[in-house]
Amino acid sequence: MATACQGPAVSPQDRLTLNDAKINEIIAQMTLEEKVNMLHSKTNMSSAGVERLGIADMNYADGPFGIREEGQPNGFMSAGWTLDSATYFPTGSALAATWSEELAYKYGTGMGKEARLRGKDVILGPAVNIQRLPVGGRTYEYLSEDPILSAALALEYTKGCQDEGTAVCIKHFAVNNQETNRGSVDAQLDERTLREIYLKPFERAIIEGGAMSVMPAYNKVNGDYCSENEHLLNEILRGEWGFKGFTVSDWGGTHSTMGAMLHGLNVQMTGSNYLGQPVIDSIAAGKLTEELVDEKVRQILRVRYAIEAVPADVANTVMTSQPESQQIALEVARKSIVLLKNEGVLPISQDVKKIAVIGQNAVLKTQSGGMGAGVKALYEVTPLEGIQAKAAEKGIEVSYAPGYKTIAFRWGPAPENLDPLEARSNDEPADPALVAEAVALAKDADLVLFFGGTNKSIETEGSDRKNIKLPCGQEELVQALYNANPNLATVLISGGPTDLQVLEPVSPSIVQGWWNGTEGGTALAEVLFGEIAPSGKLPFTFPVKLEDSPAYAMGNFPDPNGAGGDLFSLMFRPDVLKMSPEERQKFIDSLPKPVSKYTERFYVGYRWYDTKEILPMYAFGHGLSYVVFSYHDMKAKAGKDAVTVTFTLKNEGEMPADEVAQLYVHREDSQVEWPMKELKAFKRVSLNAGESKTVTLTIPMKELRYWDEAANAWALEHGDLELLLGGASDDIQLATHVNI
Ligand code: BGC
Repeated sequence: MATACQGPAVSPQDRLTLNDAKINEIIAQMTLEEKVNMLHSKTNMSSAGVERLGIADMNYADGPFGIREEGQPNGFMSAGWTLDSATYFPTGSALAATWSEELAYKYGTGMGKEARLRGKDVILGPAVNIQRLPVGGRTYEYLSEDPILSAALALEYTKGCQDEGTAVCIKHFAVNNQETNRGSVDAQLDERTLREIYLKPFERAIIEGGAMSVMPAYNKVNGDYCSENEHLLNEILRGEWGFKGFTVSDWGGTHSTMGAMLHGLNVQMTGSNYLGQPVIDSIAAGKLTEELVDEKVRQILRVRYAIEAVPADVANTVMTSQPESQQIALEVARKSIVLLKNEGVLPISQDVKKIAVIGQNAVLKTQSGGMGAGVKALYEVTPLEGIQAKAAEKGIEVSYAPGYKTIAFRWGPAPENLDPLEARSNDEPADPALVAEAVALAKDADLVLFFGGTNKSIETEGSDRKNIKLPCGQEELVQALYNANPNLATVLISGGPTDLQVLEPVSPSIVQGWWNGTEGGTALAEVLFGEIAPSGKLPFTFPVKLEDSPAYAMGNFPDPNGAGGDLFSLMFRPDVLKMSPEERQKFIDSLPKPVSKYTERFYVGYRWYDTKEILPMYAFGHGLSYVVFSYHDMKAKAGKDAVTVTFTLKNEGEMPADEVAQLYVHREDSQVEWPMKELKAFKRVSLNAGESKTVTLTIPMKELRYWDEAANAWALEHGDLELLLGGASDDIQLATHVNI
């Protein structure tokens, strides 16, 4: 740590350059072949070091919410290990629902520690893209629709992980907001939207958190693939943000030798057809220089020397999942659960003696599936198990019926002995026999807990949902349950928003329960039985209907021209499979290219609904508790570097509870176009029953700037700001003005 006598503190990125002299000496000893060998995969999850010089390989692990099961060297199929069961942490949107920087940091430490136990140097995460589309297949992996919330959590995850000696590989850089045609879609957007919305989470994690590696996304941005995008990788990431580490293409996301070499890629994952021999050939032909290769190797070695390789005889000697991380997973799950609506059914009353738990989502494990982000968890407490354990302590009887059956995720072909009910498509209507069985239990119970939502076959990497309807006949089922017994609460087990138009009127209480990790069922039961107050807040908007959401309303998604030609969907076509990699690329390049226009600009999520005055079903930031909070004495002060807001927050209830106070900014008389309001600061505050606390929120002045397209620079507009304070974007309790 630098002191006053040592001069200014070294920035987190510049810290990576402290070994440059030694690194340059090592590079001088390397052959060209050894250097180029570091620029592509060695195995499916590693890139090479140089054994002769004592440089260890770089070992990667998926991310982002559990160290992925060990795969075969040449692919993702299980290696069949026994010590590789990890802690399954709550998925991205659940972490974001905590709105807790402190928990994001701890989460990062848990991931970083377990990575080292498995001998990994780099976690392929956090995944921090903005949730632009309610249907987005990776909404559950990503954090929020809001850049300030996403950035704060991305930063803390990064710091926590890297403090444990594991590098992050923050992904997917950038504008990776849809899975449809993800391998080739061109995201077309203006510079202001890019800077203010889509780059924010990356910017903070890289500049302030010192993120050591970055994964360019599959898609293109404004015409160029992210893995060879001069503007993103060379101008912004390295040029403006001072990034000193290395970039790793998404798996199969490298597209050319010259493009990747000249425009900012360090490592091709996976394969070597672009950054292997062709690099050596291009140098021989005078098209590339060896100095450029040296520069790329230097960037990789900076991380190699910042991260101590785990010795082979230390790695994998104990189980990956450890109690300390399981405890972090539990803490996050406890604070992530969002009470969307409560007409008195929750917490479960002491008069309840018999509970009917209905819905297959109460028993489905959610650790695997969704592709890269799946986890082989050491254990996973399902919602039903959590409820049964808690009910047993209290002498309450619990019955269960599936009510519907859905396709559980599995790799590879379905086994022959598949239960025919499991082969259903998610669009099928309710099954009368399953509904009848569930209704009988509901009638006989004091309380019905209905578990709806999606699963990881529906919300998954590689495809977007067709719609956000509740699948498998859940709407018909919940109506029948309510008719049988209106003392009913719904728990939604899903990663993204769902359409609640039918469910809402027949569900007096609704909880968003997420995919909440190893201890998800434990945390859920604590909330349902009222041992802890719910305190999660929505990190994204639940629209009334899909068509209300910005990209749909603007006709930007689905792509109105429907152009295909996606690398990933084509890879499964038998004729394409027969082609050589070069032929395949040529063929793909010859197809019309899909485009995603971002003409909704920065009106993403609540910025859109607020400005257009479209009422959502549940607003961004919404989340109830078992207590109410009151806000008092708001004061604001503008200094040179920041706007500071203080206020008093009181828990008016009879149990300890957390509130997430949110501060939004509304511009008045502005010459610049702004959304109606924007989140600028937030804080999770714990309060005992009846307790008051003075809370301070700070908005750094730089967060009030906008991207001035004419000047191609950040600019601060002086004038009057209205500061809006409350417990949700649609629950503003106090307001005041400040002049900046
Ligand atoms: C995903 C990445 C993941 C990689 C390796 C890709 O398909 O987009 O997020 O890290 O695979 O599993």
